[in-house]
Amino acid sequence: MDERLSKLRGELDSIDAEMLRLFARRMETAKVIGAVKREAGIPVEDAEREAELIAARLEEAPEEARAGGERLLRLLIEESKAVQRAGLDLYLIGMPDCGKTRLGKKLAARLGRPLVDTDKLIMERTGMSIDEIFSKLGEESFRDMETALLRSIASHGGLIVATGGGMPLRAENVRLMRGSGTVVFLDRALERLLGQSTVNRPLIAGSTREESDEKLTRLYRERREAYQRAAHFSVDPDSPDALDKVGILFRIP
Ligand code: S3P
Repeated sequence: MDERLSKLRGELDSIDAEMLRLFARRMETAKVIGAVKREAGIPVEDAEREAELIAARLEEAPEEARAGGERLLRLLIEESKAVQRAGLDLYLIGMPDCGKTRLGKKLAARLGRPLVDTDKLIMERTGMSIDEIFSKLGEESFRDMETALLRSIASHGGLIVATGGGMPLRAENVRLMRGSGTVVFLDRALERLLGQSTVNRPLIAGSTREESDEKLTRLYRERREAYQRAAHFSVDPDSPDALDKVGILFRIP
């Protein structure tokens, strides 16, 4: 092989090795920052600081490093946020039957984390089904139970939380979820949501299939924007790579 080429390649190898050492140092530091933020209740993401940081680094960088340097910095920031999120709770939100529990179970297995299903926990704690709670105590009581439960689990760290479909409707719930973790909206298409079982889903129970589908369609139109606003990320749970897409946010294989 051309001697000059092999010498230059050797040089690249040592530059890469050095960059990876620095990358590891950066990730270690980011992890510690994550712990400090968690203690202080500061969110992982701060878009304003990211923009300032990128501008400042590019300003002091050599001219030839600017264009690629910006892409590299953005990548590094994404990696840092991912390791910081890994220690936080992960909330799955979305319409009834959008796959919160299904994806939650798979994520829990893949990430080696416990899964908390808020509906299930409320049923266990009250000894009542969701239908019973709605009919005997009313929706407002159920919503209070959801908020109380969220307060007790928020900031636990490392939990996968499959939430009831109405969880993001209260501003306090959104604040609790966003303040203690990452919120992912499972944005399932309306056509795929229709025709589902209404057991323990009092808000969409109807005397006929058409009536339930009508109620669900109304709920979907009323809520979709609130889900989008509450979430840090949206994922289509029916896409074949949904699990990978959520898993990668936490940089855990
Ligand atoms: C609700 C959804 C249900 C359950 C309750 C209220 C809602 O959970 O919490 O019936 O308001 O959308 P799922 O989303 O798991 O069905």
